[in-house]
Amino acid sequence: MVLRRKRVSEQNQPKLLMEVFVQLLRFCSLLPAIVAASGALAADADNGKRLAETRCVTCHIVAPSERRVVTDAPPFEAIARKFASNPDTLAFSIIDPHPRMNVTLTRREAQDLAAYINTLAK
Ligand code: HEC
Repeated sequence: MVLRRKRVSEQNQPKLLMEVFVQLLRFCSLLPAIVAASGALAADADNGKRLAETRCVTCHIVAPSERRVVTDAPPFEAIARKFASNPDTLAFSIIDPHPRMNVTLTRREAQDLAAYINTLAK
């Protein structure tokens, strides 16, 4: 009787270890997603909106409700659609064409602006 009970608990031990191992694997597989999510949160879309309203609005339509056309600058809504499949590259495209227009941005400002513009794609 006693022997049998001991044998059962010994049989369960590898199973328990396996379960712990599976839980550990599951947590590890979530890690990249957790890191990615916190990276996305690091950019501040509200600050991007403020920056857009002060520094981009002279040329671009920066909010979907606006309906005026000032220059050949694409509306932010159109930019959001263009980059919808690849939002991570948007910050670079914000920095790229503008130095010749006297618009210079820090990396951080470009990231916040990209975060704002990406909210327009939804
Ligand atoms: C002086 C006018 C002007 C200002 C100010 C300006 N832009 Fe632009 N922007 C343009 C024009 C013109 C284009 C189109 C350039 C081209 O096609 O080469 C453009 C293109 C872009 C593009 C598209 C790049 C691409 O690869 O399609 C993005 C993104 C962008 N602007 C973001 C911004 C942001 C963010 C700001 C504010 C910090 C800003 N722009 C301020 C005139 C301006």
